[in-house]
Amino acid sequence: MVRVVSVLGLVMFSVALLILSLISYVSIKKDFIFTAPKYANAGGPRMYMFHTGFRSQLAMKFLDPAFTSLNNALNENLQESSSWRFNQSAYLQQSKEIAQYIDVAHNFTLTKSSVRVGQLMHYDYSSHKYVFSIGENLRSLLPDSSPVLNKRFNSCAVVGNSGILTGSRCGAQIDSYDYVFRCNFAPTEVFRRDVGRRTNLTTFNPSILEKYYNNLLTIQDRNNFYLSLKKLDGAILWIPAFFFHTSATVTRTLVDFFVEHKGQLKVRLAWPGNIMQYVNRYWKTKQLSPKRLSTGILMFTLASSLCEQVHLYGFWPFGWDPNTGKELPYHYYDKKGTKFTTKWQESHQLPTEFKLLFKMHTDGVLKLSLSHCA
Ligand SMILES: *[C@@H]1O[C@H](CO)[C@@H](O)[C@H](O)[C@H]1NC(C)=O
Ligand SMILES: *[C@@H]1O[C@H](CO)[C@@H](O)[C@H](O)[C@H]1NC(C)=O
Ligand SMILES: *[C@@H]1O[C@H](CO)[C@@H](O)[C@H](O)[C@H]1NC(C)=O
Repeated sequence: MVRVVSVLGLVMFSVALLILSLISYVSIKKDFIFTAPKYANAGGPRMYMFHTGFRSQLAMKFLDPAFTSLNNALNENLQESSSWRFNQSAYLQQSKEIAQYIDVAHNFTLTKSSVRVGQLMHYDYSSHKYVFSIGENLRSLLPDSSPVLNKRFNSCAVVGNSGILTGSRCGAQIDSYDYVFRCNFAPTEVFRRDVGRRTNLTTFNPSILEKYYNNLLTIQDRNNFYLSLKKLDGAILWIPAFFFHTSATVTRTLVDFFVEHKGQLKVRLAWPGNIMQYVNRYWKTKQLSPKRLSTGILMFTLASSLCEQVHLYGFWPFGWDPNTGKELPYHYYDKKGTKFTTKWQESHQLPTEFKLLFKMHTDGVLKLSLSHCA
């Protein structure tokens, strides 16, 4: 009798756990995300201060076996990040695999000789009916050859834009890498203590013009944009103009601006063509096939064929800080009080991406920095 009762108790306890997991799972799906700049988007006050963190931690513990081990490994990682060891043979093996799907040097940018005036480009993420006709102006902005052809860098940092960087004081460490990749023209100057100030490449979705530079409609907007570009000096501005057809109009504005300022700016332009099918195919072999890959993992993909070693910063798509348990903004540059956004949860599958990156960290393929820097 006692036995029956305790078995029954155990069953009920398990069912309760299962229900809890399901609830957490639903909220985990709702709570997470990343990418797309939102530099100063004021949000309403946060109502449930510890809510997301608590539920996420719950979910981390009860969701699935992968998350349980992830949570343990995560704690270890935060306590002694020095225990990480680079596994060069594993890294080289993966780079080789990636190279079978993507020819990074050539996929990196269209060149003057790879397109002709009047050629119709399609878009990676839009219906095939949308086209962009390559004009003489755009063609004149293409490099003669890929700027990363036969390039090899010793140590690279890929800096994501997660709010986890806020207060990290990782700036000096990030600046110590040979090559620093950044995403979506994220601001560095004001945040240099946490994110560093050096940039060797940053992505630039043409829609940034619309969101932060008012489509260059006023002299002030044009000056602001010019000054931001001037800071990039000899860095590469990597412009995915052929991912979404919605970029077409801003792309023309951007092209006109660069043609007008030819010779005045040292920033170098790269214009990738329709490359996502190749990148997607590789990550699909790793069970990662979201509707759209994040800019962060796209940058890691490029870096893995240009660098001897890649370390990631600011890759943490969750709304709470694993170091402190405190609530986090979505981006490190979000205005104080901005709500953690769940906008990209479905399209990027960031929790899945994070799990994969963390596994690669554990395997010594890359280093994922989550803790604060000394
Ligand atoms: C490094 O990775 C290789 C290939 O994935 C694996 O066989 C090896 O055991 C790893 N070495 C260490 C020290 O973990
Ligand atoms: C990108 O790389 C793939 C695979 O190597 C290649 O087939 C394709 O032509 C390249 N595309 C561009 C636009 O460079
Ligand atoms: C990366 O950028 C820094 C300045 O931001 C520059 O000093 C350095 O030479 C660049 N490295 C490469 C490999 O281009």
